[in-house]
Amino acid sequence: MFYWRVLLALTSMKPERIVAIDGPSGSGKGTVSRGVARALGWALLDSGALYRLVALAARQAGVSLDDEARLASIASDFDVRFDLAEDGEEAIWLSGRDVTRQIRTESAGGDASQVAQLKQVRAALLQRQRRFAEGPGLVADGRDMGSIVFPAAPVKIYLTASPEERAARRHKQLKEKGVTANLAALSLEIAERDRRDMNRAVAPLVAAPDAVSIDTTGMPIEAVVERILAIVRERLLI
Ligand code: DC
Repeated sequence: MFYWRVLLALTSMKPERIVAIDGPSGSGKGTVSRGVARALGWALLDSGALYRLVALAARQAGVSLDDEARLASIASDFDVRFDLAEDGEEAIWLSGRDVTRQIRTESAGGDASQVAQLKQVRAALLQRQRRFAEGPGLVADGRDMGSIVFPAAPVKIYLTASPEERAARRHKQLKEKGVTANLAALSLEIAERDRRDMNRAVAPLVAAPDAVSIDTTGMPIEAVVERILAIVRERLLI
């Protein structure tokens, strides 16, 4: 009871309005979370973008990716804005500069996974993430949304897909953006990121015990979104 009150005070939103979606790289989380948020008219927290931004801000400031104290200070203070661009796509601004494309590269993902191992960085981002919980509702996408950031979320989803399918999806996404990538190299990068994200000491990627696992291998995005919306309707009675 006490725990729920503290959580409510922290999130300023009724806990029944949060959908936490976690899973490894390439499981479809980003696209699925965006689809669920759009369908519900709720806000979206792309927590991976925050870790990517911390790493980018550190690189720009010449801070080493293992300098925990300075990285934590960046994570507490950096100036970030999430917007919708004119074409309806999301735009991300770091200190007034549009970094939307820059943070989506594979190397930015690898950097993010490195800084995400650090306890002080995670602690610095915790309140920032919880502040997204306002308005009609929130879809939170990440690795520890259901386990750490929003443990009282009534809908928790854990998305998986086979490693081969995850690498193929990433390959397709990059190709669509005009980036040439090697499928075998991508598979290795994804495996390395999984290893780091699942084995780190702080907030590793795990399915929360009360999460519904969905294996998206071979499933079209729309079907995954529909499945989640059905769970939301059932649990949140909307
Ligand atoms: O979801 P993504 O690929 O944008 O995330 C980039 C990295 O950030 C990922 O490899 C691990 C880290 N991350 C995390 O540790 N916790 C989160 N909630 C989100 C991302």
